[in-house]
Formats: sequence, C-alpha cells, structure tokens
Amino acid sequence: MTEKIINLKNEAIGNILEAKEEKELERLRILYLGRSGKVNQLTKELPNLSNEEKKETGRLLNETKKTIEEVLRQAQDKLTKGKEEKEWIDVTAPGIPPKIGHLHLLTQAIREISEVFEKIGFVRVRYPEVEWEWYAFEGLNMPATHPARDDFESFFIDAKPDPKLGKMCLTPHTSNGQLREMERVKPPIRMINIARCHRPNWDIIHTPTFHQFEGLIVDKGINITHLKGVTDYFALNFFGPGRKTRLRPFHFQFTEPSFEVDINCPLCLGKGCRTCKSGWVELGGAGMVHPIVLKNGGVDPEEYSGFAFGWGVERTYIMKSGLNLGDIRPLYESDLRFINQF
Ligand code: FA5
Repeated sequence: MTEKIINLKNEAIGNILEAKEEKELERLRILYLGRSGKVNQLTKELPNLSNEEKKETGRLLNETKKTIEEVLRQAQDKLTKGKEEKEWIDVTAPGIPPKIGHLHLLTQAIREISEVFEKIGFVRVRYPEVEWEWYAFEGLNMPATHPARDDFESFFIDAKPDPKLGKMCLTPHTSNGQLREMERVKPPIRMINIARCHRPNWDIIHTPTFHQFEGLIVDKGINITHLKGVTDYFALNFFGPGRKTRLRPFHFQFTEPSFEVDINCPLCLGKGCRTCKSGWVELGGAGMVHPIVLKNGGVDPEEYSGFAFGWGVERTYIMKSGLNLGDIRPLYESDLRFINQF
C-alpha cells in the first residue's frame, strides 16, 4: 500500500509539472483529488488494513493529498503569471499609426491638370465612355474607312446599331467631347474634357485603358496664336519654369491645320541632349477645329473658329521633371509598393 501511495504521488507530481494549460490542470485535479479520484480510491482500501497500518497509511494518504494540492496550486500560479506577463501592455508606449490611404497618382494628375486649365476659364466636363460612332468618329470627319474604326484599333460593343449614330464603342479618345460640348452649349466654348479612353494596345507607353484631356475653345476670331498661348501656359504652369512648347505640322481628320505639340526636354530645356536628341519630346495632338466638325456640332464655321488639343494624362504626367517613370503600366497594376511612393 505504501508503495502504491508513493507511486501515485510521483505520477501526479510528474503529470502536473508537465501540464501547459489550465484545462489540463483541472483534468488532473479531478483525476487525483476528485470524489472518485485516485487518492479517494486508495482511501477506500483503508478498512482492509490492521489498526496500526490504518494509522500510518491514513497519514501518508493525507500528506500525499496535501502535496498534490500544493503542487497543483503552484502550477496554477505559474500559468496565471505567464499569461499576465504575455498580456502586459505599456499604455504609455506610442501607438502604431493607422495606415491612411491617399489619392492615386492618376487622380492627383487629373486634379492638377484640371486646376491649371480652370485658372484660365476652362470648364471641366465629362461625356459618355460608351459612345456612338457618330461622336467618336463619323461626326469628327473620320469616315467608315478610317483605320481607327477597324476592330483591331477600337473596342466596339456588341449591341444593336443606331440607324443615325452607328455602332456603339468605348471612347478611343476624348474628342467625342468636342461634338457633345457644341451640342450642349453655344459658343463661346471653353471646355476641358478629362476621361477614360480605351484602345487595344499594351506596351511601356500604351495601356488598353488610359486617360486623355481634351481642350476645346470655340469663339469668334480664334486662331493658332491662341492655341500656342494656351499650350505654352500649360507647359509653364504644369511642368515648371523654363518649359515651353512648339507646334509641329501633323494630320488629324478633325483639325485643319493639325499639329503635334512638343515640349522642350526637362533635362536640356531644348538644347538637345543624349536622352531627347532633338531637344523636344512629344506631348500630343492639336489643331484648329475642322469646319466640318464645327458644322456637325451645329456651329457656323463662317462666324466661329476654334482650336482643340488632346493629350494623354499618363504620358503627360510621367514627363514631369523628377518623376523618373519610363513605363506607364505600373499606374494600372495596383502594386502598393509603387503607389505608396506618390
Ligand atoms: C488623339 O487621340 C486625338 N484625338 C488628339 C487630338 C485632339 C488631336 C484634338 C487634335 C485635336 P492620338 O491618337 O495621338 O490623338 O492620342 C493622343 C495622346 O493619347 C497620345 O499622345 C498619348 O499621350 C495618348 N495615348 C494614346 N493611346 C494611348 C494608350 N494606349 N495608352 C496611353 N496613352 C495613350
């Protein structure tokens, strides 16, 4: 009997010391000290012993019970202390600042561009992104045979064509805004239309979705010097001191004459360097609104003239001095490591 009791004590202490959780300690308490626990089971054997043995064994059982209780209590204290240590917080420690989002680089660019033009009286407008062929092509003097109207150059919507306005497409440029604006208001017109455009292209300076900003002025006596004045104003105010534009002859169906607008290189300011070669980099298209387009917009070309320009937001923005972006695709990749830098 004595040996049984000593073995039980050693077994209980060993198990208790190994327990890692309060739940396990409670299980062991019931196993050894519970009403039908191992200690009580041995107690039930006492009546079978002689009086002398009863006394000695009873004392030993009592001692064992107390020892197990004490070891359980110490183990319980240790677990509670460990938990408190783990849960300890320093209320005076500085907090972790919450992550605060910011406007996407493109939204910042669009706002900046709008502000520059709003200062000289341009009104920001937006027109449908899903558009009829009339506004996107036909009314802009781009006949059905024009290559831009090919399935490989523009996205068309699989919907019933309108007998007058033609097929539906995703706006390939913001020039649809020229006709829409002339329909909406009579001259004088001074609009800046900034919108999403779509074309099936993908390389470092082409994305299938991109943005353009389209300026349009229609009034009496508007000529090329006004166009040059506005493009120079934009170059100076958007890109900074020393930046100016030049007009290079080009062709667009909806402007006559037409130009490509170049801006002097941010590195050499027009002198010519290794990066730009000629001293100039291309900004986008512009020109005097074609009389056919004015007519299609309900404006009399004998009385009014106008100019328009349409440039890519992404490409214009990456030309900002110091931005150092040679690829516009990261603007659409939602990679926070990139986005958080701006
Ligand atoms: C046009 O879209 C004309 N509508 C611009 C215009 C308006 C000319 C008014 C005259 C008067 P173009 O196809 O060149 O022109 O595009 C203009 C600009 O849009 C380009 O210089 C470029 O900056 C941007 N762009 C065109 N395609 C993409 C593309 N896939 N990804 C990013 N930017 C693009």
